[in-house]
Amino acid sequence: MRTPTTILLLSSLGRIALSATVKRAEPDRSNVVTVSKITDPAQQCAPYWYPPSDNYSNKFPPTWTVASIVSGDTVAQNKWNSIKAKIPAIAPKGVNGDFSSVNYDYGSDPDCWWTATQCVTSKRSGIPPDVAKIPEPLSAGYGFDDGPNCSHNALYDFLNQNNQKATVFYIGSNVINWPLQAQRALYDGHEICAHSWSHNAMTSLTSEQAFAEIWYTVRPVQAIKSVVGVTPTCWRPPYGDTDDRIRAIVNALGLTTVLWQYDSFDWMGGAQVDTNYGDFLTKARSGEFNRVGTIFLQHENNEFGMSKIMQYYSDMKSVLKLVPVGVAMNKTRPYVETNIEFPTYNEYMSGTTMKPLPASALSFLGVPSSTASSTSATASTSKASTTTTATSGASVTGTGTSTSNASSSSASGTKTGSGASTPTSSNTVTFPVLPANATKAQIQAYVQGMKTMFDSLLASLNGLTRRAAEWMV
Ligand SMILES: *[C@@H]1O[C@H](CO)[C@@H](O)[C@H](O)[C@H]1NC(C)=O
Ligand SMILES: *[C@@H]1O[C@H](CO)[C@@H](O)[C@H](O)[C@H]1NC(C)=O
Ligand SMILES: *[C@@H]1O[C@H](CO)[C@@H](O)[C@H](O)[C@H]1NC(C)=O
Ligand SMILES: *[C@@H]1O[C@H](CO)[C@@H](O)[C@H](O)[C@H]1NC(C)=O
Ligand SMILES: *[C@@H]1O[C@H](CO)[C@@H](O)[C@H](O)[C@H]1NC(C)=O
Ligand SMILES: [Zn+2]
Repeated sequence: MRTPTTILLLSSLGRIALSATVKRAEPDRSNVVTVSKITDPAQQCAPYWYPPSDNYSNKFPPTWTVASIVSGDTVAQNKWNSIKAKIPAIAPKGVNGDFSSVNYDYGSDPDCWWTATQCVTSKRSGIPPDVAKIPEPLSAGYGFDDGPNCSHNALYDFLNQNNQKATVFYIGSNVINWPLQAQRALYDGHEICAHSWSHNAMTSLTSEQAFAEIWYTVRPVQAIKSVVGVTPTCWRPPYGDTDDRIRAIVNALGLTTVLWQYDSFDWMGGAQVDTNYGDFLTKARSGEFNRVGTIFLQHENNEFGMSKIMQYYSDMKSVLKLVPVGVAMNKTRPYVETNIEFPTYNEYMSGTTMKPLPASALSFLGVPSSTASSTSATASTSKASTTTTATSGASVTGTGTSTSNASSSSASGTKTGSGASTPTSSNTVTFPVLPANATKAQIQAYVQGMKTMFDSLLASLNGLTRRAAEWMV
């Protein structure tokens, strides 16, 4: 199953017919568009080689461990040094989110500790309140925590089919592990917010750890910026666990805290999840949100949660307008990079759910700017090395050969180049037949074209070989 490439050369009947068939046991994982087309969840969750991540290893803390400032990272250290004096002297609470031994005055709630009292309005000056609901009536801030899930294509395809955008709260460790899945959120027009590096209870951490959890997820050498090319300005604390110490840290890093009012508890599984969705829908139908909208919490951390999101989508949409949280706030520039624009609430409601991505963002993702803006069915373009290779081979060959069927050759070239290729495990390019009576010049051009094509195929093979070698470690 690990034979990545097969090349067939055919020759017959005094004519030179050449057919290059690139068959892969592995799907094309060259960029966000091709990866978005993989349907098999096991294939989606197979590890892959993403070239820029060669540069990551010494820049980030190990994934899924509590972050600390990476040794030698003077940028992070200087940033921390510049803000630490502003952090309130509130002691860390409990151990790894176990708060049973915490001695806290729940009545006066001095730290505005959400976990204790669901407090969302900081008791310190200069810190804006958290966003736990949205002002627009009959609306809900729609989104999911804990992604990017490696196997989320079915869910994201579903959202595309419904022209629905969401706010996704991505965990830094997941972004590093699943870079192309993380890119899909930007590409499809979802709003990306951060959800910490390792998904630990923030109020249990030291202030420096809490800083590192956020820094390495969003700021300059951060996971989301490195992988997706944008810097979020919003975040959601894992378990909602925040207080005025954590708020001061995220505020110093330019982030807004987004919480929620209603919880599907979908991560727990079981029939209770249906009850939770049902209760929320009943509230919505009974007029609870007729004056002010709300935020409902869902997760993309397993197939169950993702299936519930899809199962209840039309019911939710029949009672509430579902919008990304930033859109509900008219936050048209949700990233530090101001070239990326989002619709206002009114624009979203009139059908513009996404503004086109600028060429610079598409180029960062390695997808040509002629590409349509979504990875849904009819999209799009691929810069898959093999595909590109085949295209250039075809065009060189095409001009070098005067053949009986030029239209066939140009049709196949166009198809491949525009990436109309489907997410199959094989790309086939058939080259035009060189007539037996071809002139010397035609044969020379043909040979030159073939040579160019095989050089590119070889380069592509080297890439695949490198990926294969990584999987064998
Ligand atoms: C790694 O980083 C260097 C320096 O920023 C850059 O020139 C190079 O292209 C990067 N490599 C990859 C594979 O992205
Ligand atoms: C995604 O979902 C799958 C299937 O439920 C699960 O096994 C996996 O752990 C999830 N997490 C990530 C990060 O993909
Ligand atoms: C969003 O913009 C619309 C149109 O200007 C306005 O009616 C609405 O109040 C704004 N919402 C927020 C939260 O600012
Ligand atoms: C050229 O190729 C096209 C597409 O395969 C085919 O429909 C057409 O009949 C061919 N024409 C000739 C002259 O072979
Ligand atoms: C090559 O053969 C074809 C018929 O197969 C003919 O029509 C064409 O004129 C020939 N070309 C040359 C350069 O002899
Ligand atoms: Zn979470």
